[in-house]
Amino acid sequence: MFKSVTLVAFATAVAARKCHDLTIPISISARNAVFDLPALVSELDVTNFFLDFVRPGVNTTDKYLTGYKTVSGHYNIAATYCQPDHGPGETLQILTHGVGFDRSYWDYPYDYYNYSYVAEAVDEHGFSTFTWDRLGVGASSKGNPINEIQQFLEVAALTELSTLLRKGSVKGINAKFSKFVHAGHSFGSAITYNFVNANPTFSDAAILTGFSQNPNFLAGFALGGNFKPVKEVPCQAAKYPAGYITVPSGTGVNIQFFAPHDFDPKLLTYATENGQAAAPGEILTIGAGTGVVNAFKGHLLIVTGNEDVPFCGGNCSDTTTIQGTFPDLISFSKPFFPHASSFKASVIPGGGHGLNLGYSHKLAYNSIFDFLKSSL
Ligand SMILES: *[C@@H]1O[C@H](CO)[C@@H](O)[C@H](O)[C@H]1NC(C)=O
Ligand SMILES: *[C@@H]1O[C@H](CO)[C@@H](O)[C@H](O)[C@H]1NC(C)=O
Ligand SMILES: *[C@@H]1O[C@H](CO)[C@@H](O)[C@H](O)[C@H]1NC(C)=O
Repeated sequence: MFKSVTLVAFATAVAARKCHDLTIPISISARNAVFDLPALVSELDVTNFFLDFVRPGVNTTDKYLTGYKTVSGHYNIAATYCQPDHGPGETLQILTHGVGFDRSYWDYPYDYYNYSYVAEAVDEHGFSTFTWDRLGVGASSKGNPINEIQQFLEVAALTELSTLLRKGSVKGINAKFSKFVHAGHSFGSAITYNFVNANPTFSDAAILTGFSQNPNFLAGFALGGNFKPVKEVPCQAAKYPAGYITVPSGTGVNIQFFAPHDFDPKLLTYATENGQAAAPGEILTIGAGTGVVNAFKGHLLIVTGNEDVPFCGGNCSDTTTIQGTFPDLISFSKPFFPHASSFKASVIPGGGHGLNLGYSHKLAYNSIFDFLKSSL
């Protein structure tokens, strides 16, 4: 059954995207890392893990790595499909959220969906959209938070979902699409980076938001979040197994996602109360595969808030941490996409890491939809 998301309850005809929720069973496998890391169950375990993670000169991923092993499983993925009133779009956008959120990041209900990327894509630009809770997060299946829920298996999930969507074999979506766009936010961008590298001709365009290839600034995100065991955070404890970790306070969410003066303080409260946990296995594989030259052949956009903390240290315009001459830290990625049909870097003035949720989201969306208009 379709449910209509009507933005304004006035008599005037308004675009009202049609969305419905899906549960998609998938069987996947991936070559995962095997980490010799005990479950993080106490506050001290979590704090020590992050102090370790940010220590210069130590590769924490390598420190705990004992080898690789193929992990296979049957999982249920919670997803939402949306299309315009009048029928499916020609192009499907497949949207992958980052750490701290679920798929609602793309269609944020706060303030009558005023921040919704999906509303803009479907109602204003005629796309169909597919958002999914990443494997291990939100309403999707959970798993062992160290050796199962890792970037590798989540890339396998995105690959399987994309393949099913292209074949038209997702139960509940009666449409075939002629074009595909993959977009991610943050960790979802890292997953998208790996997907388009392994499947260089699948998508006509890809968009990496809240992303750069500069690894120097993750410490601000890792420590700034003040992560705790999920079982110690009442609003999330029931939703996740022990061993997951989460950001317990508005201060942590603020540091990680919101730039000064670019957000509604009540939205910060909402984002904190509705936050989602992460798996340590995700943290240890967060940047896996993103340092290599990408084989992607479609059109590529990277769009990041100038004041993004994890990917720009709070100033994408400051290039003192990189070698070579680039106008900003986002343009630095251009040489990583030698096969792309086009490459565009966009820095959003005043924007933070949670690009869709700042006042500046309009600028970000303009940049994205201008790019899609000229690329598709
Ligand atoms: C850290 O170690 C992992 C596992 O050995 C490796 O894949 C990764 O490339 C290393 N990272 C860096 C920055 O050297
Ligand atoms: C939300 O969107 C509506 C309709 O465009 C607008 O009238 C309202 O001012 C917006 N609210 C905020 C807080 O931006
Ligand atoms: C960011 O870096 C640029 C280039 O170095 C500099 O001009 C600008 O003042 C910096 N912004 C802030 C807020 O410090």
